[in-house]
Amino acid sequence: MRKDAPIGVLDSGVGGLSVLKCLHQLLPHEDFIYVGDTARTPYGTRPEQEIRKFVAEIIDWLAAQGVKEVVIACNTLTMLGVESLKGAHQFPIVGMSKGEQLLLAASKKKKIGVFATPFTISTEAHKKAILAADPGAEVYPVGCAKFVPLIEGEQFESKELPEAIREYAAPLKEAGVDALILSCTHYPFIKEQITAEFGPEVTIIDPAEATSQLAMEALQAEGLAKTEGEGKVTICGTADIERVQRLAQRMLPIETCQFREINLQEK
Ligand code: DGL
Repeated sequence: MRKDAPIGVLDSGVGGLSVLKCLHQLLPHEDFIYVGDTARTPYGTRPEQEIRKFVAEIIDWLAAQGVKEVVIACNTLTMLGVESLKGAHQFPIVGMSKGEQLLLAASKKKKIGVFATPFTISTEAHKKAILAADPGAEVYPVGCAKFVPLIEGEQFESKELPEAIREYAAPLKEAGVDALILSCTHYPFIKEQITAEFGPEVTIIDPAEATSQLAMEALQAEGLAKTEGEGKVTICGTADIERVQRLAQRMLPIETCQFREINLQEK
């Protein structure tokens, strides 16, 4: 594996750009190739076998580009077990942090909310991680099926978005949570609106920074971190590259990024 090889970052759609933003800030010398499967998003409401087939196609495509590490910038995919996604590939592969330590540090009342896709919530992985770290905590998970289609559909000004936020926030406000984790990488696109709904008493945690830290440590452990030069960012989508570019603008300085529509079958 070569130090000057790029890092692959993937998601079902544009959500992982919220992680790419942190990775690029933390690792400014690295080149990144991002793949969002915008032709087939969302994944979080599909059967597991289908999701596994799609992610294997993306990882194989990234491997063909010669990546030295893959960051799974998707909580839903992380739930499948990162090592099981690696297949025969040799590069390190890093999934999303569950953020349990950040949550427990932020929550005085130990009443914690989790917003994620229905698939992620069904695994109870976040609840188990928080309770393993503090068995006395109370955890309130909410599957937010409406968010990803609204974000991918650029419905930021729609009346459906505040309605959905209000609907998903209601049980957490009722329970009196004082910390909430956004365990779907799409949700930072609407973090401002979520923060406004909960008010200042609730700390909203985005695990992207903790995940980027894990990605950096995995590279350093393999002696693969690049320490000089300006990194290049290439953002690929499997459909609708103009839409990807408009959404990316909400997260990154896109003037310095390249955009490409790709076919995962053509490597
Ligand atoms: N961004 C993905 C996540 O973090 C989910 C999107 C989807 O349902 O496809 O879970």
